[in-house]
Amino acid sequence: MARLLFLAAASLFLAAASLFISSASASAAGSDFQDANPIRSVTDRVGSLESGLLSVLGRTREALRFARFAVEHGKTYETVEEIKLRFGIFRESLDLIRSTNRKRLPYRLGINKFADISWEEFKATKLGAAQNCSATLKGNHQITDVVLPETKDWRESGIVSPVKNQGHCGSCWTFSTTGSLEAAYTQATGESISLSEQQLVDCASAFNNFGCNGGLPSQAFEYIKYNGGLDTEQSYPYAGVNGICSFKPENVGVRVINSVNITLGAEDELKHAVGVVRPVSVAFEVVKGFRLYKGGVYTSDSCGSSPMDVNHAVVAVGYGVENGVPYWLIKNSWGQDWGVDGYFKMELGKNMCGVATCASYPIVAAA
Ligand SMILES: *[C@@H]1O[C@H](CO)[C@@H](O)[C@H](O)[C@H]1NC(C)=O
Ligand SMILES: *[C@@H]1O[C@H](CO)[C@@H](O)[C@H](O)[C@H]1NC(C)=O
Repeated sequence: MARLLFLAAASLFLAAASLFISSASASAAGSDFQDANPIRSVTDRVGSLESGLLSVLGRTREALRFARFAVEHGKTYETVEEIKLRFGIFRESLDLIRSTNRKRLPYRLGINKFADISWEEFKATKLGAAQNCSATLKGNHQITDVVLPETKDWRESGIVSPVKNQGHCGSCWTFSTTGSLEAAYTQATGESISLSEQQLVDCASAFNNFGCNGGLPSQAFEYIKYNGGLDTEQSYPYAGVNGICSFKPENVGVRVINSVNITLGAEDELKHAVGVVRPVSVAFEVVKGFRLYKGGVYTSDSCGSSPMDVNHAVVAVGYGVENGVPYWLIKNSWGQDWGVDGYFKMELGKNMCGVATCASYPIVAAA
């Protein structure tokens, strides 16, 4: 079911060949002046998208807002039905944003690139199937009596690699894995590195991982340890679809000597690890409104925290307190234009959405 939904949604995005952009370039093609003036033709194209949408939807305030959204995010819609469908979802997003922000919670929602994608589509194309991660029931992280820093942000140490974008594939677990590996590698060597998610998508299935349909960072670390390494991003670039394994030992960027699991739900262990060791791969349950997160400390009373609930893996890179609410600082893999520069904050202290249910970090060696 999830697989079918994914294919349908993916073809819908890919097939969006742009009614308005192609008609705009057709009308521009006859004119030497416009051919020679790229700025002019971009203006035409934008104007054409906006007026095309408004002619279908009418010039209401929300339609204008939708048209501006579509232009800003480079959206292309193929048919009138598609425009109406996307506008309907956009209005639902606006309603959700208004009703949520009215509650004066410690976080805010806002319009972003996902505002015309329904929660059902989003789940099918971005989130892994829930994974049973009870293997971390008994962790092996050793707490010491060192005093933890009040706040922590590993970005300040320069070991956190740039935010990536998983696209329309439930491969969050591979980005969570590379995110914590890249930080561990830079911490150990002083050199930056970018590592291959695609190798994990294509090659790690013997360790209970399912490519674009989900997996677990702890199981990915086990695969890399057993496999003898993970290739660099450049040598094995991201395709965002399930493919055939083409691991090449000569392109290995990092080896995993071991991995450390946080005991299920033990936020004190997680805080110790993030505070004094390094960034940690964590998972949690994404629920409906989260895709529209804009800032503040996220909290929810509808997400679960059991090993069967978590459906998204990310990297905890720090913690702190904002307006009296303690939070985890977390790196996502939905692009730098999502959340706050690709990051979000999640309430700390309640195992919110299972943030400490399925956490682990690697011990690495340079290749
Ligand atoms: C999850 O995994 C644990 C440990 O492997 C197992 O005992 C439990 O039955 C599993 N739960 C489900 C719902 O599969
Ligand atoms: C950590 O958890 C993974 C599964 O999620 C398991 O395979 C591995 O053995 C665990 N590691 C340790 C050191 O217990």
